[in-house]
Amino acid sequence: MRAEPVLSLQKVSAYYGNLCAVRDVSLQVAAGETVCIIGPNGAGKTTLLKAISRVLPKVEGAIHYRGASTASVTPQALVGRGLIHVPEGRQIFASMTVEENIEVGAFAVPGGARKEEVEAALDMFPKLRERSRQLAGTLSGGEQQMLAMARALMGKPQLLMLDEPSMGLAPMVVTEIYRQVDQLRQRGVTILLVEQNARIALRNSDRAVVMASGEIRHQGTSAELLEGGSIASLVFGH
Ligand SMILES: Nc1ncnc2c1ncn2[C@@H]1O[C@H](COP(=O)(O)OP(=O)(O)O)[C@@H](O)[C@H]1O
Ligand SMILES: [Mg+2]
Repeated sequence: MRAEPVLSLQKVSAYYGNLCAVRDVSLQVAAGETVCIIGPNGAGKTTLLKAISRVLPKVEGAIHYRGASTASVTPQALVGRGLIHVPEGRQIFASMTVEENIEVGAFAVPGGARKEEVEAALDMFPKLRERSRQLAGTLSGGEQQMLAMARALMGKPQLLMLDEPSMGLAPMVVTEIYRQVDQLRQRGVTILLVEQNARIALRNSDRAVVMASGEIRHQGTSAELLEGGSIASLVFGH
């Protein structure tokens, strides 16, 4: 018998007022899998993650997380069940220290995190440990992305959604961020990864969903998409 998917979407549409930003999206994410969503700016990638997190009020279709419909579940309750969203633009607390930012991630979780868990997060990101007493606003873009990810790990993600972790970062820093993503994958964390940078996303995922104008245009393995063929123009724009 096949295991139940961690996340299942059936004909999901999402709206801003009358604007339909995501239309009829159906996809599944299995336990331990990394699925990337790629596509140009404005394709609806961020909106889809917000629909899954239930932070958008106007969502149609069925979303099941860990076997249960999320139709009447609050975003906070989903966080408590391990559905953790690292938003576009990181959104860390600039005037709090690195350590305080990580601790905040624990407050969303019933029972809260132990000191050891903050330590474990700092172990995973040694750069953050060096700066644990520093105000988060003084960190570089790459360090802020690491901080957003460390904070997310406090929620003990069963599904980790990363929205454009490479955005605005220099190539060397992107490599470093994806080394951490790879570590998470090896630990078996299920990941839904949104990226505009298709090559990076495909190199760091098992399967890919290509979106454009709010709709899915293609789904397949990341390896097959990387190899190119007719889909290349859709993904890479050449
Ligand atoms: N808060 C908003 N209000 C109205 N329209 C929005 C809002 N956010 C995004 N949109 C529109 O929804 C569409 C999808 O946007 P988005 O999900 O941010 O795309 P992506 O993340 O793929 O770049 C775009 O046409 C965008 O202009
Ligand atoms: Mg986006």
